[in-house]
Amino acid sequence: MATILAIESSCDETSAAICKDGKMLSNIIATQAVHQKYGGVVPELASRAHQQHIIPVVEDAIISAKISKKDIDAVAFTRGPGLLGALLVGTSFAKSFAFARNIPLIDVNHMQAHILAHFIPPANPLEQPEWAAPEFPFLCLTVSGGHTQIVLVKDYFDMEIVGQTMDDAAGEAFDKTAKILGLPYPGGPLIDKYAKEGNPQAFQFPEPQIPGLDFSFSGLKTSILYFVRDKKKEDPDFLEKNMADICASVQSRIITILLAKVKRAAKEFRVNNIAIAGGVSANSGLRGALQDMAGKQNWKVFIPPFQYCTDNAGMIAIAGYHKFLKGDFVGQDVAPLARMVF
Ligand code: KG4
Ligand code: ZN
Repeated sequence: MATILAIESSCDETSAAICKDGKMLSNIIATQAVHQKYGGVVPELASRAHQQHIIPVVEDAIISAKISKKDIDAVAFTRGPGLLGALLVGTSFAKSFAFARNIPLIDVNHMQAHILAHFIPPANPLEQPEWAAPEFPFLCLTVSGGHTQIVLVKDYFDMEIVGQTMDDAAGEAFDKTAKILGLPYPGGPLIDKYAKEGNPQAFQFPEPQIPGLDFSFSGLKTSILYFVRDKKKEDPDFLEKNMADICASVQSRIITILLAKVKRAAKEFRVNNIAIAGGVSANSGLRGALQDMAGKQNWKVFIPPFQYCTDNAGMIAIAGYHKFLKGDFVGQDVAPLARMVF
């Protein structure tokens, strides 16, 4: 029996969750709106906002879970990767809480946690009787604002990165495209929204030829930049008139780049359990295209619920719970890591 308090503060979401015996009792997320006008996350502002939000968010998580502080058996926190100043807020809070209550402290790798979100059972199992966690081994396409990886997951904490981006992450490709199109940060959800109304064949953007299972998105970004510049010269209203078609075409290209490599990895490792994780896995086009490909390839696919795609403490809690079962704790001398490997 274990009740875990989990804290996530790696980027621009301050989040706290309570999980009891692997079931999520609460998952509170405070999104920082302060970055919108800057077109990206401003690290110093993120740290300050985490400092303001952390106590109310934790209180909210405890109240929503209908437990009291003394019921908490361990504290899990995101140790990295992420923005160092942002991670310091969550780490310091977790250390203080664990010290004050004399309970174990559990460090969690944010990228592993995105993948382990697949092991969070539905809040109401009766509503999703078909739900099942992925069986090992499975491949996970982890696509977020900072990372794009294909991970071979052999066990909860036995993961191998078999492919990754050589430059921009998939989320960055969405966000930078949005910036070129004059849309606010984060642009991914807006491109997704416009793409639903547009024709994905309207404009052709290049597919990079990268060997193996690695990705590259920087060429795509440059081609979009030049495309928009040239089209605006011909017609200053080009963007306004074609926003849905541009978004649909860019999104479709990002998806074909991602799924081509997933298909290749599935063949190479002879794995047909395929999962997606990370903020970009909220993209409706990617979710749909993966389902289509699964039908053709005979894959079993695992797509997380929206609330566990983008950054959240629920995923930190489930990772923490599985570490708790192994007795894998850290001491009060633990420090966050901006870069953290598996
Ligand atoms: O995992 P996440 O919340 O934070 C990081 O760890 O980076 O991912 C954030 C990224 C952003 O780039 C955001 O634009 C993208 O996920 N994103 C989306 C969608 N929702 C979030 N990209 C495309 N379509 C979406 N619906
Ligand atoms: Zn993330």
